[in-house]
Amino acid sequence: MAKIIDGKKISQQMKDELKEKAERLKEKGKTGALAVIQVGQDPASSVYVRNKKNACAYIGIESLAYELPEETTEEELLKLIDELNGKEQVKGILVQLPLPKHICEDKVIRAISPKKDVDGFHPQSVGAMTIGEPGFLPCTPAGIIQLLKRSDVEIGGKHCVIIGRSNIVGKPMAILMLRENATVTVTHSKTKNLKEICRQADILIVAMGKPQFIGAEYVKEGAVVIDVGIHRDENNKLCGDVKFAEAEPLASAITPVPGGVGPMTIAMLMNNCVQSIEEE
Ligand code: GUN
Repeated sequence: MAKIIDGKKISQQMKDELKEKAERLKEKGKTGALAVIQVGQDPASSVYVRNKKNACAYIGIESLAYELPEETTEEELLKLIDELNGKEQVKGILVQLPLPKHICEDKVIRAISPKKDVDGFHPQSVGAMTIGEPGFLPCTPAGIIQLLKRSDVEIGGKHCVIIGRSNIVGKPMAILMLRENATVTVTHSKTKNLKEICRQADILIVAMGKPQFIGAEYVKEGAVVIDVGIHRDENNKLCGDVKFAEAEPLASAITPVPGGVGPMTIAMLMNNCVQSIEEE
């Protein structure tokens, strides 16, 4: 029987710590706002954006919502970011991804001042993370590190296998696990012998974006399994990339979906916002 890693509970603890920290900063006159920009009305993005605004309200940070129409041009979006870069009270800028196809995401990410890059996506933030210099860490991988640490999972010297190599999760996850002294293997859609490699993992982090793909045959007995996927199954129920019922009896610890990694992403975003207010 695996220990169920409760991301809801751990993220709540973090948000309570951050709420206190934000209150202390406010007493010293340090405040700030998070600007959240959404272009178009992708329903999943709308849910994430609403959750981010609610988290700001809980912590006691102002949030400024920019809900822009689908037809917004790249130029208009870049102009808004430029204005927000110049506003002293705005301490964080978040552009919800994905953007409509006519807007270049890379250009938009680069337009955000690294000082306000609370998503940690700017190449300067990525570079700083890679060489271990101060900067904002990307929220999902940093949230997973917190989940592991706060669940007393030892990372140093462990073999961590990551499935997925995206800029948002897989690649930064590998860097952060290396920083924690894990031995890291990154796998992806072209990897051969995926099952055999996964079965060597002490910590298996699954961010492949395929609903309920990872079954018992991928999991070593006693492994810690972290599921980053979030999908709707045929009954419209939320599910991850991992077949939970198959992996759970083998694992020593496992994250559920929902209530695992998801809430941690928002807690780390709040962490980055408070860090930005503190460092002003
Ligand atoms: N879309 C999916 N995940 C994220 C995230 O962490 N930040 C932003 N801005 N967009 C996303």
